[in-house]
Amino acid sequence: MHAMDTLEDLVGFYRHFSGVEAKGESPTFVEWAAGVAGDEEVLALLQELPTAKRQPNLVFAAARWHGAPAPGPYAGLREVLLGQWESVRTTILTRATQTNEPGRCASLLPLLAGMPGPLALLEVGASGGLCLHPDRYSYRYTDGAGGVRAIDPRTGPAPTLLECRVSGTPPLPRELPQIAWRGGLDLHPLDLSSAEDAAWLRMLVWPEHEDRRRRLEAACAEVPHESVTLLEGDLLTDLGPLVAQARREAPDATLVVFHTAVLAYLDEPGRQLWVREVGELLEGVRDGGGRAHWISNEGGGVLPSLAATATCRGGEADFCLALDGEAVGWAHGHGRSLTWC
Ligand SMILES: C[S@@+](CC[C@H](N)C(=O)[O-])C[C@H]1O[C@@H](n2cnc3c(N)ncnc32)[C@H](O)[C@@H]1O
Repeated sequence: MHAMDTLEDLVGFYRHFSGVEAKGESPTFVEWAAGVAGDEEVLALLQELPTAKRQPNLVFAAARWHGAPAPGPYAGLREVLLGQWESVRTTILTRATQTNEPGRCASLLPLLAGMPGPLALLEVGASGGLCLHPDRYSYRYTDGAGGVRAIDPRTGPAPTLLECRVSGTPPLPRELPQIAWRGGLDLHPLDLSSAEDAAWLRMLVWPEHEDRRRRLEAACAEVPHESVTLLEGDLLTDLGPLVAQARREAPDATLVVFHTAVLAYLDEPGRQLWVREVGELLEGVRDGGGRAHWISNEGGGVLPSLAATATCRGGEADFCLALDGEAVGWAHGHGRSLTWC
């Protein structure tokens, strides 16, 4: 992560976002971030915010929440930021970037399906919990030779379709795993049955990603919220009771603790602590006679010790997918592609 403390840092951050992160993904955000980087009045407003709240994804989502048209030109963003700053600022301060991307289930599925079932899924940093339902979505994996592996729930094709290009030979299943228990932990769990939380999730999807927005809406409509234990808590301190609950309520299931796009929110000592904590917790489960695994799906630079175990590179797929501390491949950040090592 780049710093956003000084004015110079902030300008650099938005330029980087425009030229690297949004490039090829969102022409609107390329223009907006470049616009902010050169706009003294807007930069002055952003400097009023706590450092962690100055990030483009949060500022842009809040401005869209208050009516900035997206896709749309920088002038529309500027008008909302300057004209409605008090309201936009309140939204920025009360909300967080919590993008919940069901497409990431396409990255997780080959690992989940290879474990003895049924599974007890425990996601840390779950947001609204959409990645806790890999058994409720339809998958289409395509390879470079034109082959397609279609996997659907037992009840037939689902409204939420996850499409993923694969290279290498991931162990793609024929059937979806059976899930006996689902639980999640998040600093601020989102309630998908609340129209406001669901609308905020839509704001976090980048403007031109219409396919993701459709998928999100389908998934929100499909997932039965009452079947998940979603608790407020910090993954570094509050996981123990949820592990105990999973063991109690699904004693015969294979416990899978996983996280996708979460550890970037932790500082370096926090990430190291997490690796130790999850290792010890799962060892405790195994010592007690249970089966337990840890899946990490995080940006390649987030846990370098895991990425260093990879035996291949992923190209555009730059999330390191790892099982029990060993990289197995690389996944696109939203699950659009998967490279198996
Ligand atoms: C980018 S979202 C990813 C959500 C989900 N894992 C997915 O892939 O769709 C990151 C989530 O991690 C949560 N989070 C960040 N730090 C956390 C912590 N220390 N403990 C628990 N949750 C945390 C945030 O609140 C946010 O909902």
